[in-house]
Amino acid sequence: MTALTLRRATEADLPFVMATERREGYDALVGRWDEARHRAALRDGRHAHLLGQAGAEPIGFAILRDWASEERVTLIKRIAVAAPGQGWGRLLLSHVVEAAFRETPAHRLWLGVFPENLRARRAYEAVGFVAEGVARGSAFFGGLHRDELIMAILRPDWEKARGVHPGA
Ligand SMILES: CC(C)(COP(=O)(O)OP(=O)(O)OC[C@H]1O[C@@H](n2cnc3c(N)ncnc32)[C@H](O)[C@@H]1OP(=O)(O)O)[C@@H](O)C(=O)NCCC(=O)NCCS
Repeated sequence: MTALTLRRATEADLPFVMATERREGYDALVGRWDEARHRAALRDGRHAHLLGQAGAEPIGFAILRDWASEERVTLIKRIAVAAPGQGWGRLLLSHVVEAAFRETPAHRLWLGVFPENLRARRAYEAVGFVAEGVARGSAFFGGLHRDELIMAILRPDWEKARGVHPGA
């Protein structure tokens, strides 16, 4: 598999981001924003749009909320790849985790996933996210209040997995 690079997305990347979140079948799995909402998030200082590229080809994106927040808690608000089930998601996620812990003082990186989204859960588990429990009614999605499985990775978990000593 080609190496992946991760960079901050710009407005020029929004067509890819919006097409990816609108892929067939994704409507049941992941949220989507219109262009104005994406543009606002790109500028608000609270969100980070991260784009994964294999060579020059974009393969997926993640939107993080509370990037570099004072609370040191960051949410993976959304993640999606253009071609699922081929290992790209795991690779993208591992780069996103690296970026969050290397580039910010985040202590906790977390997300909510619909419990039946087994493909996403496996990808999260593969990079070290741990299931913490079900938050009832935590997502208002498609007009319904849906339960979400909360998964998180903490900085000490990440350091341990990498053999990094705290403070190094
Ligand atoms: C979630 C997502 C980013 C994961 O990326 P991906 O490239 O599909 O994931 P990977 O191929 O790296 O890994 C998927 C894992 O799930 C497994 N898998 C694939 N299809 C599966 C299925 N239908 N049921 C259960 N497991 C499945 C794969 O075997 C792999 O696990 P393994 O490596 O242990 O064998 C991607 O599937 C996606 O964009 N999905 C649509 C949007 C979405 O669900 N976003 C997350 C919302 S919380």
